[in-house]
Amino acid sequence: MKKAKNQILVIFGASGDLTKRKLIPALFELYEQGFLPDKFAVLGASRTLLSDEDFRKKASEFLPEGERSRLFNKMLFYQSVSPTIVKDFDKLKTRLEDIGVQQNIEANYIFYLSTPPSLYQIIPKYLSQTGLSKSDQFSRRLIVEKPFGTDLNTAKKLNINLLNYFDENQVYRIDHYLGKETVQNMLVTRFSNGIFEPLWNHNYIERVEITSAESLGVEGRGGYYDQSGAMRDMLQNHLLQLVGFVAMEPPVIIDANAIRNEILKVFQSLRPIPENKVAKYVIRGQYTESSLKGKPVLGYRDEPGVDKLSRTETFVALKFFIDNWRWAGVPFYIRTGKKLPTRVTEIVIHFKSVPHHLFDTKSGGNNQLIIRIQPDEGILVKFGMKTPGAGFKVQTVNMDFHYSDLADEHLPSSYERLLLDCMQGDATLYSRGDAVEEAWKFVQPILNAWQTNPEIPIYGYPAGTWGPEDSDKLVSNGKWRYPCKNLTDDGLYCKL
Ligand code: BG6
Repeated sequence: MKKAKNQILVIFGASGDLTKRKLIPALFELYEQGFLPDKFAVLGASRTLLSDEDFRKKASEFLPEGERSRLFNKMLFYQSVSPTIVKDFDKLKTRLEDIGVQQNIEANYIFYLSTPPSLYQIIPKYLSQTGLSKSDQFSRRLIVEKPFGTDLNTAKKLNINLLNYFDENQVYRIDHYLGKETVQNMLVTRFSNGIFEPLWNHNYIERVEITSAESLGVEGRGGYYDQSGAMRDMLQNHLLQLVGFVAMEPPVIIDANAIRNEILKVFQSLRPIPENKVAKYVIRGQYTESSLKGKPVLGYRDEPGVDKLSRTETFVALKFFIDNWRWAGVPFYIRTGKKLPTRVTEIVIHFKSVPHHLFDTKSGGNNQLIIRIQPDEGILVKFGMKTPGAGFKVQTVNMDFHYSDLADEHLPSSYERLLLDCMQGDATLYSRGDAVEEAWKFVQPILNAWQTNPEIPIYGYPAGTWGPEDSDKLVSNGKWRYPCKNLTDDGLYCKL
Protein backbone atom coordinates (compact mmCIF):
# COMPACT_ATOMS: atom_id res chain seq x y z
CA MET A 1 0.00 0.00 0.00
CA LYS A 2 1.34 3.44 -0.86
CA LYS A 3 2.31 5.82 1.92
CA ALA A 4 0.27 8.93 2.54
CA LYS A 5 1.91 12.32 2.10
CA ASN A 6 3.44 14.10 5.08
CA GLN A 7 0.80 15.61 7.31
CA ILE A 8 -0.38 16.66 10.75
CA LEU A 9 -3.47 15.21 12.39
CA VAL A 10 -5.22 17.58 14.76
CA ILE A 11 -7.53 15.87 17.24
CA PHE A 12 -10.16 18.10 18.83
CA GLY A 13 -11.33 16.48 22.07
CA ALA A 14 -7.88 14.99 22.58
CA SER A 15 -8.29 14.54 26.32
CA GLY A 16 -11.39 12.37 25.76
CA ASP A 17 -11.92 8.66 25.83
CA LEU A 18 -11.93 8.00 22.09
CA THR A 19 -8.45 9.46 21.65
CA LYS A 20 -6.97 7.25 24.34
CA ARG A 21 -8.85 4.04 23.66
CA LYS A 22 -9.07 4.07 19.87
CA LEU A 23 -7.15 6.77 18.03
CA ILE A 24 -3.74 6.60 19.73
CA PRO A 25 -3.57 2.76 19.64
CA ALA A 26 -4.70 2.78 15.98
CA LEU A 27 -2.05 5.35 15.04
CA PHE A 28 0.60 3.37 16.87
CA GLU A 29 -0.40 0.23 15.00
CA LEU A 30 -0.14 2.12 11.68
CA TYR A 31 3.31 3.24 12.78
CA GLU A 32 4.27 -0.35 13.62
CA GLN A 33 3.05 -1.57 10.23
CA GLY A 34 5.03 1.17 8.48
CA PHE A 35 1.95 2.94 7.09
CA LEU A 36 2.34 6.36 8.68
CA PRO A 37 3.74 9.06 6.41
CA ASP A 38 7.50 9.57 6.72
CA LYS A 39 6.91 12.90 8.40
CA PHE A 40 3.91 12.89 10.63
CA ALA A 41 2.65 14.53 13.82
CA VAL A 42 -0.44 14.46 15.97
CA LEU A 43 -1.53 17.67 17.61
CA GLY A 44 -3.97 17.03 20.45
CA ALA A 45 -6.32 19.95 21.08
CA SER A 46 -8.84 20.40 23.86
CA ARG A 47 -9.75 22.73 26.69
CA THR A 48 -7.68 20.94 29.33
CA LEU A 49 -4.35 22.59 30.06
CA LEU A 50 -1.62 20.08 29.26
CA SER A 51 1.96 20.25 28.08
CA ASP A 52 3.28 18.07 25.24
CA GLU A 53 4.91 15.96 27.94
CA ASP A 54 1.65 15.51 29.87
CA PHE A 55 -0.13 14.48 26.68
CA ARG A 56 2.61 12.01 25.78
CA LYS A 57 2.49 10.54 29.27
CA LYS A 58 -1.28 10.04 29.06
CA ALA A 59 -0.93 8.47 25.62
CA SER A 60 1.80 6.09 26.77
CA GLU A 61 -0.68 4.45 29.18
CA PHE A 62 -2.44 3.12 26.09
CA LEU A 63 0.68 1.92 24.30
CA PRO A 64 2.81 -1.15 24.86
CA GLU A 65 6.06 -0.61 26.71
CA GLY A 66 9.27 -0.30 24.73
CA GLU A 67 11.44 1.69 22.39
CA ARG A 68 8.91 1.76 19.53
CA SER A 69 6.30 3.42 21.74
CA ARG A 70 8.89 5.94 22.90
CA LEU A 71 9.72 6.87 19.32
CA PHE A 72 6.05 7.08 18.38
CA ASN A 73 5.34 9.26 21.39
CA LYS A 74 7.73 11.89 20.08
CA MET A 75 5.28 12.57 17.25
CA LEU A 76 2.63 13.71 19.73
CA PHE A 77 2.11 17.39 20.60
CA TYR A 78 -0.56 19.24 22.48
CA GLN A 79 -2.18 22.66 22.30
CA SER A 80 -4.85 23.87 24.67
CA VAL A 81 -7.77 25.24 22.63
CA SER A 82 -11.12 26.42 23.85
CA PRO A 83 -13.30 25.61 20.82
CA THR A 84 -15.64 28.53 21.47
CA ILE A 85 -12.88 31.17 21.49
CA VAL A 86 -11.88 32.17 17.98
CA LYS A 87 -8.53 33.60 19.16
CA ASP A 88 -7.49 30.14 20.31
CA PHE A 89 -7.63 29.08 16.67
CA ASP A 90 -4.96 31.65 15.84
CA LYS A 91 -2.79 30.01 18.49
CA LEU A 92 -3.58 26.64 16.94
CA LYS A 93 -2.54 27.90 13.53
CA THR A 94 0.75 29.27 14.85
CA ARG A 95 1.43 26.01 16.66
CA LEU A 96 0.76 24.02 13.49
CA GLU A 97 3.18 26.23 11.58
CA ASP A 98 5.82 25.82 14.30
CA ILE A 99 5.49 22.04 14.32
CA GLY A 100 5.65 22.11 10.52
CA VAL A 101 8.95 23.99 10.58
CA GLN A 102 10.44 21.97 13.44
CA GLN A 103 9.49 18.58 12.01
CA ASN A 104 9.77 19.53 8.36
CA ILE A 105 6.13 18.71 7.60
CA GLU A 106 4.16 20.50 4.90
CA ALA A 107 0.86 22.14 5.80
CA ASN A 108 -1.37 19.13 5.00
CA TYR A 109 -3.83 18.89 7.86
CA ILE A 110 -6.58 16.54 9.02
CA PHE A 111 -8.91 17.95 11.66
CA TYR A 112 -10.61 15.23 13.68
CA LEU A 113 -13.78 16.26 15.54
CA SER A 114 -14.04 14.04 18.59
CA THR A 115 -15.77 16.58 20.80
CA PRO A 116 -19.36 16.85 22.05
CA PRO A 117 -21.49 17.23 18.88
CA SER A 118 -22.63 20.75 19.82
CA LEU A 119 -19.11 21.89 18.87
CA TYR A 120 -19.45 20.50 15.33
CA GLN A 121 -21.21 23.76 14.48
CA ILE A 122 -18.47 25.99 15.82
CA ILE A 123 -15.09 24.36 15.14
CA PRO A 124 -15.45 24.23 11.31
CA LYS A 125 -16.47 27.88 11.34
CA TYR A 126 -13.45 28.97 13.34
CA LEU A 127 -11.13 26.79 11.28
CA SER A 128 -12.46 28.60 8.25
CA GLN A 129 -12.15 32.05 9.81
CA THR A 130 -8.54 31.29 10.65
CA GLY A 131 -7.85 30.24 7.07
CA LEU A 132 -7.24 26.62 8.02
CA SER A 133 -10.15 24.95 6.24
CA LYS A 134 -9.02 25.42 2.65
CA SER A 135 -5.76 25.70 0.76
CA ASP A 136 -4.86 25.63 -2.92
CA GLN A 137 -1.56 23.98 -2.24
CA PHE A 138 -2.12 21.61 0.66
CA SER A 139 -4.75 19.05 1.64
CA ARG A 140 -7.25 19.98 4.34
CA ARG A 141 -9.66 17.31 5.58
CA LEU A 142 -12.24 17.13 8.32
CA ILE A 143 -13.22 13.91 10.10
CA VAL A 144 -16.56 14.06 11.91
CA GLU A 145 -17.28 11.50 14.64
CA LYS A 146 -20.75 10.18 15.26
CA PRO A 147 -23.47 11.05 16.17
CA PHE A 148 -24.17 12.88 12.93
CA GLY A 149 -27.30 14.68 14.08
CA THR A 150 -30.01 13.38 16.34
CA ASP A 151 -32.76 13.39 13.69
CA LEU A 152 -33.29 14.32 10.06
CA ASN A 153 -33.48 18.01 10.77
CA THR A 154 -30.32 18.28 12.84
CA ALA A 155 -28.41 16.10 10.36
CA LYS A 156 -29.46 18.41 7.52
CA LYS A 157 -28.44 21.47 9.49
CA LEU A 158 -25.10 19.92 10.32
CA ASN A 159 -24.47 19.11 6.66
CA ILE A 160 -25.33 22.67 5.65
CA ASN A 161 -23.06 24.06 8.33
CA LEU A 162 -20.08 21.86 7.40
CA LEU A 163 -20.50 22.64 3.72
CA ASN A 164 -20.39 26.35 4.46
CA TYR A 165 -16.75 25.93 5.38
CA PHE A 166 -15.53 22.71 3.74
CA ASP A 167 -16.34 21.02 0.42
CA GLU A 168 -18.06 17.63 0.50
CA ASN A 169 -14.87 15.94 -0.72
CA GLN A 170 -13.01 17.31 2.32
CA VAL A 171 -15.56 15.91 4.82
CA TYR A 172 -15.09 12.39 6.22
CA ARG A 173 -18.08 11.23 8.30
CA ILE A 174 -17.03 8.29 10.43
CA ASP A 175 -19.08 5.16 10.79
CA HIS A 176 -16.64 2.75 12.36
CA TYR A 177 -18.60 -0.26 11.08
CA LEU A 178 -17.40 0.58 7.58
CA GLY A 179 -13.82 0.22 8.80
CA LYS A 180 -14.37 -3.37 9.86
CA GLU A 181 -12.44 -5.79 7.68
CA THR A 182 -15.40 -8.16 7.48
CA VAL A 183 -17.74 -5.40 6.25
CA GLN A 184 -15.33 -4.51 3.46
CA ASN A 185 -15.00 -8.18 2.67
CA MET A 186 -18.66 -8.21 1.77
CA LEU A 187 -17.77 -6.32 -1.40
CA VAL A 188 -15.16 -8.94 -2.23
CA THR A 189 -17.42 -11.87 -1.38
CA ARG A 190 -20.21 -10.52 -3.52
CA PHE A 191 -18.32 -9.04 -6.44
CA SER A 192 -15.24 -11.21 -6.87
CA ASN A 193 -17.01 -14.57 -6.85
CA GLY A 194 -19.13 -15.83 -9.71
CA ILE A 195 -21.26 -18.09 -7.52
CA PHE A 196 -23.05 -15.65 -5.21
CA GLU A 197 -24.17 -12.73 -7.34
CA PRO A 198 -26.47 -14.71 -9.69
CA LEU A 199 -28.43 -15.84 -6.61
CA TRP A 200 -28.36 -12.47 -4.85
CA ASN A 201 -31.91 -11.33 -5.56
CA HIS A 202 -35.62 -11.92 -4.91
CA ASN A 203 -35.69 -15.00 -7.14
CA TYR A 204 -33.50 -16.96 -4.76
CA ILE A 205 -33.44 -15.12 -1.46
CA GLU A 206 -36.34 -15.52 0.91
CA ARG A 207 -35.26 -13.06 3.58
CA VAL A 208 -32.25 -11.26 4.97
CA GLU A 209 -31.54 -10.99 8.66
CA ILE A 210 -29.01 -8.79 10.41
CA THR A 211 -28.25 -9.02 14.12
CA SER A 212 -25.93 -6.83 16.11
CA ALA A 213 -26.04 -7.95 19.71
CA GLU A 214 -24.03 -6.66 22.63
CA SER A 215 -23.71 -8.33 26.00
CA LEU A 216 -22.60 -5.07 27.63
CA GLY A 217 -25.07 -2.50 28.91
CA VAL A 218 -24.56 1.26 28.79
CA GLU A 219 -21.28 1.07 30.76
CA GLY A 220 -21.17 4.51 32.35
CA ARG A 221 -22.58 6.22 29.25
CA GLY A 222 -26.13 6.34 30.63
CA GLY A 223 -26.37 10.13 30.25
CA TYR A 224 -25.57 10.00 26.53
CA TYR A 225 -27.44 6.79 25.81
CA ASP A 226 -30.66 7.87 27.45
CA GLN A 227 -30.90 10.72 24.93
CA SER A 228 -30.04 8.40 22.09
CA GLY A 229 -31.32 4.81 22.33
CA ALA A 230 -30.62 1.85 20.08
CA MET A 231 -32.28 3.40 17.02
CA ARG A 232 -30.00 6.43 16.93
CA ASP A 233 -26.94 4.79 18.46
CA MET A 234 -26.73 1.69 16.26
CA LEU A 235 -29.50 1.30 13.72
CA GLN A 236 -29.63 4.58 11.84
CA ASN A 237 -25.90 4.41 11.15
CA HIS A 238 -24.07 1.10 11.61
CA LEU A 239 -26.86 -1.31 10.74
CA LEU A 240 -28.21 0.63 7.79
CA GLN A 241 -24.67 0.78 6.40
CA LEU A 242 -24.58 -3.02 6.59
CA VAL A 243 -27.90 -3.08 4.73
CA GLY A 244 -26.30 -0.83 2.12
CA PHE A 245 -23.42 -3.27 1.56
CA VAL A 246 -25.69 -6.33 1.40
CA ALA A 247 -28.25 -4.78 -0.91
CA MET A 248 -26.25 -2.51 -3.24
CA GLU A 249 -25.83 -3.09 -6.96
CA PRO A 250 -22.30 -3.79 -8.19
CA PRO A 251 -20.49 -0.48 -8.57
CA VAL A 252 -18.90 0.15 -11.95
CA ILE A 253 -15.49 0.62 -10.36
CA ILE A 254 -14.08 0.46 -6.83
CA ASP A 255 -14.01 4.12 -6.10
CA ALA A 256 -15.51 6.25 -3.32
CA ASN A 257 -18.23 7.89 -5.35
CA ALA A 258 -19.19 4.82 -7.34
CA ILE A 259 -19.67 2.77 -4.16
CA ARG A 260 -21.37 5.56 -2.27
CA ASN A 261 -23.77 6.19 -5.16
CA GLU A 262 -24.91 2.57 -4.95
CA ILE A 263 -25.37 2.77 -1.17
CA LEU A 264 -27.40 5.94 -1.57
CA LYS A 265 -29.68 4.20 -4.06
CA VAL A 266 -30.38 1.43 -1.53
CA PHE A 267 -31.32 4.00 1.10
CA GLN A 268 -33.54 5.79 -1.41
CA SER A 269 -35.35 2.51 -2.06
CA LEU A 270 -36.12 1.72 1.59
CA ARG A 271 -39.90 1.53 1.86
CA PRO A 272 -40.93 4.08 4.51
CA ILE A 273 -42.72 2.69 7.55
CA PRO A 274 -45.70 5.01 8.08
CA GLU A 275 -46.19 6.28 11.62
CA ASN A 276 -49.43 4.32 12.01
CA LYS A 277 -47.67 1.04 11.11
CA VAL A 278 -44.72 1.46 13.45
CA ALA A 279 -46.18 -0.75 16.19
CA LYS A 280 -46.57 -3.55 13.64
CA TYR A 281 -43.14 -3.39 12.00
CA VAL A 282 -40.90 -2.14 14.79
CA ILE A 283 -40.44 -3.72 18.21
CA ARG A 284 -38.61 -1.81 20.90
CA GLY A 285 -37.49 -3.04 24.28
CA GLN A 286 -35.64 -2.05 27.41
CA TYR A 287 -33.65 -4.40 29.61
CA THR A 288 -34.88 -5.08 33.09
CA GLU A 289 -33.01 -6.41 36.11
CA SER A 290 -32.07 -10.02 36.18
CA SER A 291 -29.39 -12.35 37.39
CA LEU A 292 -26.54 -13.68 35.28
CA LYS A 293 -24.29 -16.50 36.39
CA GLY A 294 -25.64 -16.08 39.90
CA LYS A 295 -24.93 -12.34 40.02
CA PRO A 296 -27.64 -9.66 40.07
CA VAL A 297 -27.71 -7.37 37.01
CA LEU A 298 -29.18 -3.86 37.09
CA GLY A 299 -32.12 -2.96 34.91
CA TYR A 300 -31.60 -0.11 32.43
CA ARG A 301 -33.59 2.41 34.49
CA ASP A 302 -31.30 1.81 37.46
CA GLU A 303 -28.12 2.53 35.50
CA PRO A 304 -26.28 5.72 36.51
CA GLY A 305 -27.32 8.72 34.41
CA VAL A 306 -30.58 7.11 33.24
CA ASP A 307 -34.00 8.58 33.99
CA LYS A 308 -35.94 6.36 36.40
CA LEU A 309 -38.97 6.58 34.07
CA SER A 310 -36.94 6.40 30.88
CA ARG A 311 -38.68 5.20 27.72
CA THR A 312 -35.44 4.95 25.77
CA GLU A 313 -35.10 1.69 23.85
CA THR A 314 -32.07 -0.52 24.49
CA PHE A 315 -33.34 -3.00 21.90
CA VAL A 316 -34.95 -2.55 18.52
CA ALA A 317 -36.01 -5.02 15.85
CA LEU A 318 -37.67 -4.15 12.59
CA LYS A 319 -39.02 -5.57 9.38
CA PHE A 320 -38.83 -3.58 6.17
CA PHE A 321 -38.64 -3.87 2.40
CA ILE A 322 -36.40 -2.45 -0.29
CA ASP A 323 -38.53 -1.39 -3.22
CA ASN A 324 -36.32 -2.02 -6.21
CA TRP A 325 -35.92 -4.57 -8.98
CA ARG A 326 -33.48 -6.80 -7.08
CA TRP A 327 -35.22 -6.95 -3.71
CA ALA A 328 -38.94 -6.69 -4.52
CA GLY A 329 -40.90 -8.61 -1.90
CA VAL A 330 -37.89 -9.78 0.18
CA PRO A 331 -38.33 -8.91 3.86
CA PHE A 332 -35.29 -7.58 5.70
CA TYR A 333 -35.15 -8.05 9.46
CA ILE A 334 -32.68 -6.21 11.63
CA ARG A 335 -32.25 -6.16 15.38
CA THR A 336 -29.80 -4.71 17.82
CA GLY A 337 -29.69 -4.48 21.56
CA LYS A 338 -27.69 -4.13 24.74
CA LYS A 339 -27.48 -6.76 27.47
CA LEU A 340 -28.26 -9.60 25.11
CA PRO A 341 -26.75 -13.04 25.71
CA THR A 342 -23.57 -12.51 23.67
CA ARG A 343 -21.67 -10.01 21.55
CA VAL A 344 -22.16 -10.86 17.92
CA THR A 345 -22.81 -9.09 14.63
CA GLU A 346 -23.78 -11.12 11.60
CA ILE A 347 -25.81 -11.15 8.42
CA VAL A 348 -27.85 -14.19 7.45
CA ILE A 349 -29.00 -14.66 3.88
CA HIS A 350 -31.84 -17.18 3.89
CA PHE A 351 -32.25 -18.76 0.47
CA LYS A 352 -35.57 -20.02 -0.83
CA SER A 353 -36.16 -23.73 -0.69
CA VAL A 354 -36.11 -25.91 -3.78
CA PRO A 355 -39.29 -25.73 -5.90
CA HIS A 356 -40.17 -29.40 -5.50
CA HIS A 357 -39.33 -31.39 -2.38
CA LEU A 358 -38.04 -34.88 -3.13
CA PHE A 359 -36.67 -35.61 0.31
CA ASP A 360 -37.75 -35.18 3.86
CA THR A 361 -36.02 -31.84 4.37
CA LYS A 362 -37.48 -31.05 7.77
CA SER A 363 -34.03 -31.22 9.24
CA GLY A 364 -32.23 -30.16 6.05
CA GLY A 365 -34.14 -26.90 5.70
CA ASN A 366 -33.23 -23.96 3.54
CA ASN A 367 -29.72 -22.89 2.67
CA GLN A 368 -28.18 -20.06 4.62
CA LEU A 369 -25.13 -17.94 4.00
CA ILE A 370 -23.90 -16.35 7.20
CA ILE A 371 -21.48 -13.47 7.09
CA ARG A 372 -19.98 -13.04 10.53
CA ILE A 373 -18.82 -9.49 11.17
CA GLN A 374 -17.61 -10.17 14.73
CA PRO A 375 -16.38 -12.10 16.71
CA ASP A 376 -15.03 -15.32 15.15
CA GLU A 377 -15.06 -13.39 11.88
CA GLY A 378 -15.80 -15.56 8.88
CA ILE A 379 -18.34 -17.00 6.51
CA LEU A 380 -20.56 -20.03 6.91
CA VAL A 381 -22.71 -21.84 4.38
CA LYS A 382 -25.39 -24.23 5.60
CA PHE A 383 -26.66 -26.86 3.23
CA GLY A 384 -28.33 -30.25 3.18
CA MET A 385 -26.44 -33.56 2.94
CA LYS A 386 -27.60 -37.12 2.99
CA THR A 387 -27.35 -38.80 6.35
CA PRO A 388 -25.36 -41.98 5.72
CA GLY A 389 -27.39 -45.16 5.81
CA ALA A 390 -30.69 -46.39 4.50
CA GLY A 391 -33.18 -44.07 2.81
CA PHE A 392 -32.72 -40.40 1.99
CA LYS A 393 -32.58 -38.50 5.20
CA VAL A 394 -31.23 -34.98 4.83
CA GLN A 395 -29.32 -33.13 7.50
CA THR A 396 -27.90 -29.61 7.56
CA VAL A 397 -24.13 -29.37 7.51
CA ASN A 398 -21.71 -26.45 7.72
CA MET A 399 -19.00 -25.23 5.40
CA ASP A 400 -17.07 -22.48 7.10
CA PHE A 401 -14.14 -20.12 6.74
CA HIS A 402 -12.68 -18.32 9.76
CA TYR A 403 -10.43 -15.28 9.46
CA SER A 404 -8.39 -16.71 12.31
CA ASP A 405 -7.17 -19.34 9.82
CA LEU A 406 -5.20 -16.57 8.14
CA ALA A 407 -3.01 -16.54 11.23
CA ASP A 408 -0.21 -14.48 9.69
CA GLU A 409 -2.41 -11.62 8.61
CA HIS A 410 -2.87 -8.63 10.88
CA LEU A 411 -6.61 -7.77 11.11
CA PRO A 412 -6.54 -3.97 11.30
CA SER A 413 -8.96 -2.26 13.66
CA SER A 414 -11.65 -0.02 12.16
CA TYR A 415 -9.89 3.12 13.26
CA GLU A 416 -6.59 2.00 11.77
CA ARG A 417 -8.19 1.46 8.41
CA LEU A 418 -10.28 4.63 8.48
CA LEU A 419 -7.47 6.91 9.64
CA LEU A 420 -5.17 5.56 6.97
CA ASP A 421 -7.82 6.00 4.28
CA CYS A 422 -8.38 9.61 5.26
CA MET A 423 -4.63 10.28 5.22
CA GLN A 424 -4.63 8.92 1.69
CA GLY A 425 -7.69 10.92 0.69
CA ASP A 426 -9.88 7.87 0.15
CA ALA A 427 -13.45 8.45 1.37
CA THR A 428 -14.92 5.11 0.21
CA LEU A 429 -15.45 3.87 3.75
CA TYR A 430 -16.86 7.13 5.08
CA SER A 431 -20.54 8.08 4.83
CA ARG A 432 -21.52 10.71 2.33
CA GLY A 433 -23.81 13.55 3.42
CA ASP A 434 -26.72 12.60 1.15
CA ALA A 435 -26.70 8.98 2.35
CA VAL A 436 -26.67 10.04 6.01
CA GLU A 437 -29.72 12.21 5.41
CA GLU A 438 -31.47 9.44 3.50
CA ALA A 439 -30.87 7.03 6.41
CA TRP A 440 -32.37 9.57 8.81
CA LYS A 441 -35.35 9.98 6.47
CA PHE A 442 -36.08 6.28 6.90
CA VAL A 443 -35.92 6.21 10.71
CA GLN A 444 -37.59 9.59 11.30
CA PRO A 445 -41.25 8.37 11.12
CA ILE A 446 -40.38 5.66 13.64
CA LEU A 447 -38.88 8.18 16.05
CA ASN A 448 -41.90 10.45 15.52
CA ALA A 449 -44.36 7.66 16.23
CA TRP A 450 -42.54 6.67 19.42
CA GLN A 451 -42.50 10.22 20.59
CA THR A 452 -46.10 11.09 19.86
CA ASN A 453 -47.86 7.81 20.54
CA PRO A 454 -47.41 6.52 24.10
CA GLU A 455 -49.61 3.53 23.21
CA ILE A 456 -46.76 1.95 21.26
CA PRO A 457 -45.36 -0.47 23.80
CA ILE A 458 -41.80 -0.57 25.03
CA TYR A 459 -41.36 -4.16 26.10
CA GLY A 460 -39.19 -5.15 29.03
CA TYR A 461 -36.74 -8.00 28.56
CA PRO A 462 -34.60 -9.48 31.33
CA ALA A 463 -30.92 -8.59 30.88
CA GLY A 464 -29.13 -11.53 29.30
CA THR A 465 -32.02 -12.66 27.07
CA TRP A 466 -32.62 -12.15 23.32
CA GLY A 467 -34.92 -9.16 23.72
CA PRO A 468 -38.72 -8.99 23.82
CA GLU A 469 -40.55 -12.12 22.73
CA ASP A 470 -42.59 -9.97 20.36
CA SER A 471 -39.51 -9.54 18.18
CA ASP A 472 -39.85 -13.25 17.35
CA LYS A 473 -43.37 -12.65 16.05
CA LEU A 474 -42.00 -10.07 13.64
CA VAL A 475 -40.40 -12.79 11.53
CA SER A 476 -43.50 -14.11 9.81
CA ASN A 477 -41.84 -16.77 7.69
CA GLY A 478 -39.33 -18.36 10.07
CA LYS A 479 -37.23 -17.65 13.12
CA TRP A 480 -34.24 -15.48 13.93
CA ARG A 481 -30.99 -17.35 14.03
CA TYR A 482 -29.73 -17.32 17.61
CA PRO A 483 -26.00 -16.99 17.08
CA CYS A 484 -23.34 -18.08 19.54
CA LYS A 485 -19.80 -16.86 20.04
CA ASN A 486 -18.57 -19.46 17.58
CA LEU A 487 -19.72 -18.90 14.03
CA THR A 488 -20.78 -22.48 13.44
CA ASP A 489 -22.97 -22.83 16.55
CA ASP A 490 -26.47 -21.56 17.04
CA GLY A 491 -29.55 -22.14 19.18
CA LEU A 492 -31.44 -20.28 21.86
CA TYR A 493 -29.54 -21.95 24.64
CA CYS A 494 -26.12 -22.32 23.05
CA LYS A 495 -23.06 -22.10 25.29
CA LEU A 496 -22.07 -18.47 25.57
C1 BG6 B 1 -20.90 2.67 19.01
C2 BG6 B 1 -22.06 2.83 19.94
O1 BG6 B 1 -21.04 3.47 17.87
O2 BG6 B 1 -20.81 1.31 18.61
C3 BG6 B 1 -21.93 1.93 21.14
O3 BG6 B 1 -22.15 4.18 20.37
C4 BG6 B 1 -21.74 0.50 20.70
O4 BG6 B 1 -23.07 2.01 21.99
C5 BG6 B 1 -20.61 0.41 19.68
O5 BG6 B 1 -21.41 -0.26 21.84
C6 BG6 B 1 -20.53 -0.99 19.10
O6 BG6 B 1 -19.38 -1.10 18.31
P1 BG6 B 1 -18.66 -2.48 18.10
O7 BG6 B 1 -17.57 -2.18 17.14
O8 BG6 B 1 -18.18 -2.93 19.44
O9 BG6 B 1 -19.70 -3.40 17.54
